[in-house]
Amino acid sequence: VKTSLETLILPAGHAAAEAAARRLAAGGLVAFPTETVYGLGADAGNAAAIAHLYAAKGRPAFNPLIAHVADLAAARAIGRFDARALRLAEAFWPGPLTLVVPKTDGCPVAELATAGLDTVAIRIPAHPVAQAILHAFGGAVVAPSANISGHVSPTLAAHVESDLAGRIDLIVDGGPVEVGVESTIVGCFESPMLLRPGGLSRERIEAVLGVALARPPAEAESDDSQPLAPGMLASHYAPRASVRLDARDVEPGEALLAFGPARLPGLDAASAVMNLSPSGDLDEAAANLFGYLRALDAKGPKAIAVMTIPEQDLGEAINDRLRRAAVAR
Ligand code: TXA
Ligand code: MG
Repeated sequence: VKTSLETLILPAGHAAAEAAARRLAAGGLVAFPTETVYGLGADAGNAAAIAHLYAAKGRPAFNPLIAHVADLAAARAIGRFDARALRLAEAFWPGPLTLVVPKTDGCPVAELATAGLDTVAIRIPAHPVAQAILHAFGGAVVAPSANISGHVSPTLAAHVESDLAGRIDLIVDGGPVEVGVESTIVGCFESPMLLRPGGLSRERIEAVLGVALARPPAEAESDDSQPLAPGMLASHYAPRASVRLDARDVEPGEALLAFGPARLPGLDAASAVMNLSPSGDLDEAAANLFGYLRALDAKGPKAIAVMTIPEQDLGEAINDRLRRAAVAR
């Protein structure tokens, strides 16, 4: 890994979008905000740039990337959309939804980015900075979350900087992201499948489809060599501290990640307390999740106790990320 790059940080704006497009065209790595989390972009057609991207993140090469495009016409040049996929695209793009569809013949996304699969993951982000960069660049940009592989995803430019400074060319700072968890991934297979819960709730997708989303078979998650949504490895998103879920009390020395009214036994002995949403709002909790996990972890507690979060709306994605963070490494 090259760790001696001079990483430029630019505030979002016209000049930054132009600089980002130039760096991408030259094979560089550019971090930029989307509405879900910050992404680390590379030219989707440039295998060498994509190899650098995997190396910069320390990401296993069997874990494929999402191709980001500006509009549906660009998406349809990459993937084949059946009627159901089209309905989802029209209902939710641009937005926090990724669709996994069969590749087109002559799909311009480099093989390395799709890990040899015959499907491709595609998303049209809604964030104006991401849109400006995609328009200025004029092609597809593959972009995983802009963190070291295994760390929690970045919701601020400062998170990207602390993980990747010296390894990438440019960070475009667009301030805090809005959604705070990664996009929901739907596999457009015979029965549409929820491959990753995320920033668009299952409920909203099912309302448009008129059918329930299938769940991936259990072995897809446990078999790390052949995962169905290969990024869904059990110990993703892990902070350094151990994470204790469904906490009904706080043990001495633990930090507390609270949700809603927090009056737990032992609260006074907590080493730190952050509340994802004192009013119990799941959208607010999702937006705060990764930043608060990073902030609590930075204080070096022996463990982070997490209060129960309802398994509905964005709670499904929040609980998914917390369960992964709780898997001991
Ligand atoms: O919100 C997001 O989705 C962010 C922003 C930057 O767009 N990106 C993101 O990318 O979270 P990443 O690389 O951290 O997660 C992409 C996920 C991985 O779990 C990967 O395995 C899955 O998408 N994926 C990519 N291509 C796939 C495919 N053809 N079939 C199944 N899963 C795929
Ligand atoms: Mg990621």
